[in-house]
Amino acid sequence: MKFKILDMLISSDDFLSGEAIGNKLNISRAAVNKNISKLKQMGYKINAVNNKGYKLIKEYDILNNFELEKGLETKFLARKSAYFDEIDSTNEQAKAMAADNENGFMVFSDSQSAGKGRLGRIWQSEKGKALYFSFVLKPKIEPNQAPVITLICAVAVARAIKKLSGLDVKIKWPNDIVVNGKKLVGILTEMSAEIDMIKYIVVGIGINVNNSCFDDEIAFKATSLFIESGKSFSRIKILQQCLKEIENCWFVFEKEGFSPFRDEYKKLCANIGMQVKLVNKEITAAAVDISQNGELVLETEKGERIKVFGGEVSIRRADGAYI
Ligand code: BTN
Repeated sequence: MKFKILDMLISSDDFLSGEAIGNKLNISRAAVNKNISKLKQMGYKINAVNNKGYKLIKEYDILNNFELEKGLETKFLARKSAYFDEIDSTNEQAKAMAADNENGFMVFSDSQSAGKGRLGRIWQSEKGKALYFSFVLKPKIEPNQAPVITLICAVAVARAIKKLSGLDVKIKWPNDIVVNGKKLVGILTEMSAEIDMIKYIVVGIGINVNNSCFDDEIAFKATSLFIESGKSFSRIKILQQCLKEIENCWFVFEKEGFSPFRDEYKKLCANIGMQVKLVNKEITAAAVDISQNGELVLETEKGERIKVFGGEVSIRRADGAYI
């Protein structure tokens, strides 16, 4: 019922009386009032004025299933989803729900109490400022073809962010999205598979949207759309655009694999042409290419070519430091 009332308030530019709402929905004024309170608890700002009624303040940045479905343009991705005001990790929740749900099922949350990053790191997950979402994929491909999915998702998210913010986003191999050398988006892909069959893949994406600052230990390397552009963004619109781009890429990937994305990935890739260092290995080399399988191709001083997949590389800055 509360979403029916919300729909009416969204469609009206003027105050709507409790009586008018009640008559339309066949409920009492007291029931209208109760549902208005529920909407307020969800974060909607609704002006209530004696003898006039209710009016929704239309500028808001609220995440929930109703808001997601309002402008979602996908065919299968996130057509079914579970929203949480707070969760430990959307990846963990998506994995727990993967067996009982279909391809495309998504978990999203307003905050995470134990957000997970790659390589066992923590993903700082401030409430109400960023996006945390994880979706389940059940592709009919061999497990060894799965790693490129995360690269393709990075391309899709980069497209979406560029479209909505105009920012010059880059990808730090394999799947960090960076702006001006600082991290804006992290992607954590986890898989459950047998030797020759994928049970499911969970792709978890964290996007720093309206964060105005970060904890000291990551402030030098993390950024947000707000910090880079000085503007606030609607998280739900960014989420919807990301899902649309990811789904479009997914349809192409299913037919043609990684090759249609390779050139775009290379253009977006911040590592190519840079001196990089393999983290935890004493190897520094020039990043020269992305292979057909999405590996980063490095060339050592001796001219030897090495392909790397997984792990992490850091890029050498002009001052010689590796970030
Ligand atoms: C990285 O280390 O760069 C990957 C970060 C991935 C963070 C996202 S936020 C949504 C999803 N849930 C998690 O616990 N992690 C991913």
